[in-house]
Amino acid sequence: MFIWLIPHFLLLLVLVLTCLVRSQDNAAEQTFWPSTLPLTVRSPYFSCWMMSTANLQLLEQWSRFWNYASPSKGDPFLTLQGLVIIDDKVYQWLGDWNNGGSFSAATVTRFSVTPTRTIFEMQAGPIGINITFLSPIEPSDWVSQSIPYSYVYMDVVSTDGQYHDVQVYADVSAEWVTGSRGDTIIWNTTVTSSAIYHAAVAANPTILGETAEQANDGTLYLAMTSSPSVTYQTGSDSACRGQFMVHGALENSQDTDFRSVYTNQPSFALAASLGSILSTSAPVVWVLAYVRDPTIGYVTPDGDSQQRHPYFVTKYTSSIDAVLDALANFNETSQRAQSLDNKIIQDALKISPQYADLVSLAARQVFGAIDITVSNGSDGRWNMSDTMMFMKDIGSTRRVNPVEVMYQAFPMFLYLNSSFGKPLLAPLLEYQSSLKFPLPYAAADLENTYPHAPGNNSQHSQGIEQTGTMLIMTYAHARMSGDGSLISEYYDTLRGWAEYLCNTTLNPMANSLPTNRAFQAPVILPSKESSPFKRWRK
Ligand SMILES: *[C@@H]1O[C@H](CO)[C@@H](O)[C@H](O)[C@H]1NC(C)=O
Ligand SMILES: *[C@@H]1O[C@H](CO)[C@@H](O)[C@H](O)[C@H]1NC(C)=O
Ligand SMILES: *[C@@H]1O[C@H](CO)[C@@H](O)[C@H](O)[C@H]1NC(C)=O
Ligand SMILES: *[C@@H]1O[C@H](CO)[C@@H](O)[C@H](O)[C@H]1NC(C)=O
Ligand SMILES: *[C@@H]1O[C@H](CO)[C@@H](O)[C@H](O)[C@H]1NC(C)=O
Ligand SMILES: *[C@@H]1O[C@H](CO)[C@@H](O)[C@H](O)[C@H]1NC(C)=O
Ligand SMILES: *[C@@H]1O[C@H](CO)[C@@H](O)[C@H](O)[C@H]1NC(C)=O
Ligand SMILES: *[C@@H]1O[C@H](CO)[C@@H](O)[C@H](O)[C@H]1NC(C)=O
Repeated sequence: MFIWLIPHFLLLLVLVLTCLVRSQDNAAEQTFWPSTLPLTVRSPYFSCWMMSTANLQLLEQWSRFWNYASPSKGDPFLTLQGLVIIDDKVYQWLGDWNNGGSFSAATVTRFSVTPTRTIFEMQAGPIGINITFLSPIEPSDWVSQSIPYSYVYMDVVSTDGQYHDVQVYADVSAEWVTGSRGDTIIWNTTVTSSAIYHAAVAANPTILGETAEQANDGTLYLAMTSSPSVTYQTGSDSACRGQFMVHGALENSQDTDFRSVYTNQPSFALAASLGSILSTSAPVVWVLAYVRDPTIGYVTPDGDSQQRHPYFVTKYTSSIDAVLDALANFNETSQRAQSLDNKIIQDALKISPQYADLVSLAARQVFGAIDITVSNGSDGRWNMSDTMMFMKDIGSTRRVNPVEVMYQAFPMFLYLNSSFGKPLLAPLLEYQSSLKFPLPYAAADLENTYPHAPGNNSQHSQGIEQTGTMLIMTYAHARMSGDGSLISEYYDTLRGWAEYLCNTTLNPMANSLPTNRAFQAPVILPSKESSPFKRWRK
């Protein structure tokens, strides 16, 4: 019964954000043109994108938070500015800092999208540059998966056979810290023997708050591996960039005039001098992260308000340790990401090249919509047996664990690690098995209030499909993972739902959307006679 889901994966996974256009003119080999390209996409609040354009002038624009299409929601920009100096000539590799036309932009020749990476190939004078945005997907390492970070890395190679002097630069602005652009931001820079990093937070964060869909309770990090050739600076955007343009290096200085996002835009910059080279022997790597703890406010069946924590706390005592480990693990992580990319693409190519493109684009959307969390146990330790995943209905609402959206993403979780199904379904099943939940059919979500999940008791008109969908997902998880614990724990609820479907599915006046009912009723009804769930009954 589960197999029929798979072909629907393609149709269902393409989220609202993305429509596809095909290249008309240049770059003949470029066949895949998503309207928006993922840059750093790892959690509902660390989700940075770039609009794609048909003429490959991609990178002369500011990168944006996912809600770029809703200017009414506020300023969507997440400034990420990249510069490179080649033999004293300045080029821009990302961003839209015009500076009176005092430099030119590198020419993008091609981009590609894999499940974990977006890669831009470009030419800057006599140098070929590849910039890769890598947002790892870690199906078997939930600690790493729950650290909201991405790598931005750069490879360069001389294209005229000559040695060239190369200095590279990147900065991020305080826009990444909070959606409330008037908030005062505070920041600092730390230099250790292994890393140089900037940290920035809102001076008065609203814990578990949102403004224009961005959070304002996270810590922004920008980090590089320590080396005498790496320099840092905090200051206004023009101070940092101007310093680099003139000197090819930063001042190693900190601006301590803490202020709001729009007041002389506080910017956090790291640069590296590569010397006179023919090519880089290893990529130049920046790590960018936006880490929140607590992650989610959840109401337990007892009615207690619980703050839940990112899963990585089970390994790291502070978020910066997690981020610096990510920096130190770049080699292994990027190799793991490439293997995963190859596996996913090979499998998807068995359907078609277009399907491989769509899956590549959808993979980070799925994993960028979730937070993996644990609770603090009654013994004061992290309670790993209380792992829960929350998914935000990104793009339309703030719904928490929206059942039909989870269903669309579910094949990807089952394919990568079917164990994800349990923590994803657990919050919905736990809430609806409690006495607080009055309805005979399944809820559509846990409320429209991400990152708060209080549960939703409202009657709604999709009783049949949400109920069928919950049963299908619960069964698919048990069947693919062999783990029947959800079914055994929530058997009574699931059985009640099956009974509800038996009572209502064939009733034309029943509570549902007709099209979905046509799909789901035949799937569910046989379970009355020969319930596949019984096997897992306690
Ligand atoms: C799935 O995740 C679980 C929990 O992290 C892990 O123990 C298991 O090895 C993973 N399985 C796969 C196939 O990655
Ligand atoms: C960029 O990537 C392309 C495609 O993988 C490769 O052919 C090229 O050599 C790379 N360029 C650099 C500068 O690493
Ligand atoms: C730097 O800022 C971070 C984030 O506010 C803070 O956790 C850390 O303690 C600060 N470090 C120093 C040395 O002030
Ligand atoms: C990562 O690999 C590069 C070569 O590609 C090597 O120079 C570097 O030392 C490695 N880094 C670590 C931390 O192992
Ligand atoms: C851990 O979570 C499980 C599942 O919610 C719960 O039954 C158990 O009591 C918790 N343990 C502690 C020590 O809090
Ligand atoms: C976890 O709970 C213990 C007591 O149960 C408390 O002392 C501790 O502060 C809590 N830790 C966090 C991070 O909430
Ligand atoms: C609860 O769910 C209903 C039906 O899905 C929805 O219309 C309503 O907006 C939700 N309640 C709130 C307060 O978000
Ligand atoms: C299903 O119908 C039977 C018979 O009318 C009724 O007893 C039962 O409560 C109904 N169950 C649900 C979940 O609607």
